[in-house]
Amino acid sequence: MQIIESGIRDVEQGENIRVVMPVNIYECKLGDDVFIGPFVEIQKGCVIGRRTKIQSHTFICGNVTLGDDCFIGHGVTFANDLFKNGGPDSSAENWIHIVLGNSVTVGSGATILAAEICNGAVIGAGSVVTKPVLLKGIYAGNPAKLLRLL
Ligand SMILES: CC(C)(COP(=O)(O)OP(=O)(O)OC[C@H]1O[C@@H](n2cnc3c(N)ncnc32)[C@H](O)[C@@H]1OP(=O)(O)O)[C@@H](O)C(=O)NCCC(=O)NCCS
Repeated sequence: MQIIESGIRDVEQGENIRVVMPVNIYECKLGDDVFIGPFVEIQKGCVIGRRTKIQSHTFICGNVTLGDDCFIGHGVTFANDLFKNGGPDSSAENWIHIVLGNSVTVGSGATILAAEICNGAVIGAGSVVTKPVLLKGIYAGNPAKLLRLL
């Protein structure tokens, strides 16, 4: 059995970051004043903006960028391999790069399968975001639809 320990490794970090262990965070960048709750994983190539809060049990796949002042609820999943060719794709160049703007709020249990969520958007709990969110508003459901503009 090969055991690979989780932990914090090769992170470029700003100041005043708070992390509640255990987490698995590696080869990424955390801005000033970021908060990360327990049981969070943040993979290689991610950039987390200043003052952004990530609550417990959230999974952030590789190459996700979160802007400043975002709130990511509990148990949110970001997915970059969309299985476009019928299953897991081992070629990372086929994966999407997800970018959230500033002040984006994501409710607990949401799944993000789209490449872009614009500044100030709100995603309801349990929603599945399958299309880019380009207008500031509240979106919810599976697939997530605009409830109202903000
Ligand atoms: C989406 C949300 C922000 C409410 O937005 P809102 O614009 O005030 O929406 P309303 O409560 O007026 O509901 C509007 C409609 O959307 C539905 N709706 C609300 N939240 C929904 C959700 N998460 N998923 C699916 N539908 C939802 C409502 O049932 C309602 O449907 P109806 O028109 O058929 O009656 C809120 O319900 C939500 O999901 N917040 C996330 C909370 C959270 O995860 N907090 C984490 C704390 S750690």
